[in-house]
Amino acid sequence: MTADLKTKFIIEKIKESKLSKADFSHLVFGKLFSDHMLVADYFDGTWQTPKIIPYQALPYEPSAKVFHYGQAVFEGMKAYKDTAGNVFLFRPEENFKRINQSAERLGMPSIPKEYFIDGIKELIKLDKDWIPTGMGESLYLRPVYIATENAVAASPSDSYRFMVITSPAAKYYSGDVKVKIEDRYSRACDGGVGYAKAAGNYAAQFYPTEKAKNEGFQQIIWTDSGQHKYLEEAGTMNMFFRIGDKLLTAPTIPESTRILPGVTRKSIIRLATDHNIDVEVRPIEIKEVIEAAKNGQLKEIFGAGTAATVLPIVGLKYKDYYTDLPKPDKSYADFLKNKIMDIQYNRAEDPYGWRIKID
Ligand SMILES: Cc1ncc(COP(=O)(O)O)c(C=O)c1O
Repeated sequence: MTADLKTKFIIEKIKESKLSKADFSHLVFGKLFSDHMLVADYFDGTWQTPKIIPYQALPYEPSAKVFHYGQAVFEGMKAYKDTAGNVFLFRPEENFKRINQSAERLGMPSIPKEYFIDGIKELIKLDKDWIPTGMGESLYLRPVYIATENAVAASPSDSYRFMVITSPAAKYYSGDVKVKIEDRYSRACDGGVGYAKAAGNYAAQFYPTEKAKNEGFQQIIWTDSGQHKYLEEAGTMNMFFRIGDKLLTAPTIPESTRILPGVTRKSIIRLATDHNIDVEVRPIEIKEVIEAAKNGQLKEIFGAGTAATVLPIVGLKYKDYYTDLPKPDKSYADFLKNKIMDIQYNRAEDPYGWRIKID
């Protein structure tokens, strides 16, 4: 942190709120944006005073480095409202740590904690009426950090912008989700940027995911790029496999540099362990899961991520093999989803200190 870090936010409020025109009864994930955004610029080797301003288009030239070299990282978080109207964040420090881990990997300066955490709190205070209150609804927060120097030269930028925009959100996936185990394309490789929330990782997923969608699968489960032998994660979720009563999930950094270390995954591992579910964090062979499916031991598969929280998978395909995955009676997915949502929505005690109230 620089000595002259300016932590006071300049706030410029919108002249007329767009809230009365927003249709909260038909929320589509990520399409509607609240009144304000946070912006903080970095240039001349230092962070400038952060501002909260009306949501607006960006003032960049076509030569800005982000467009050419993809120096861009982001985060995904949510603000939750309880029935009394109190507003909470869930483990924001984890997202703060992860954005700087991503930034470091892409050669970008660290974002000061005050800008990230306090900036998000200030922004939410201003736009708290945009948080929907339906079951499972929230205000999705999208911190994004980009290279802004105007230069078509393949080297790190000398100027950057950190921003946060927010979007009232309902469910991320509606309908059943079937997954295909990908055995040709990869999203990440050893020593690459898979563990970072780099924008380009998502671009790399779109083409194979569209192909899978055309075959009737909403998501891909990525496998290791070397041999396509081990199960890794899905497009926006870490994956959990229940074989018998054991819950398996793949390791993240430092063991693997290919998988995004999810905040939901980390929370699920803790909650499951504390409720006496046997969790194993280790490489998971495709062969092991397919064999378990064939002999009736594969009880459930679910994804875990901020957008969907916990998402049960109803069908699995690998090469020529397909199996439906009917929901078991006492599903771990349901149990763990309720446990995590109880904390997020202030429906239960939070023994972990994960829920952060915004006053
Ligand atoms: C590739 C990928 N994996 C996993 C996750 C889940 O991470 P989290 O639980 O922090 O949302 C996400 C979502 O952010 C993601 O984009």
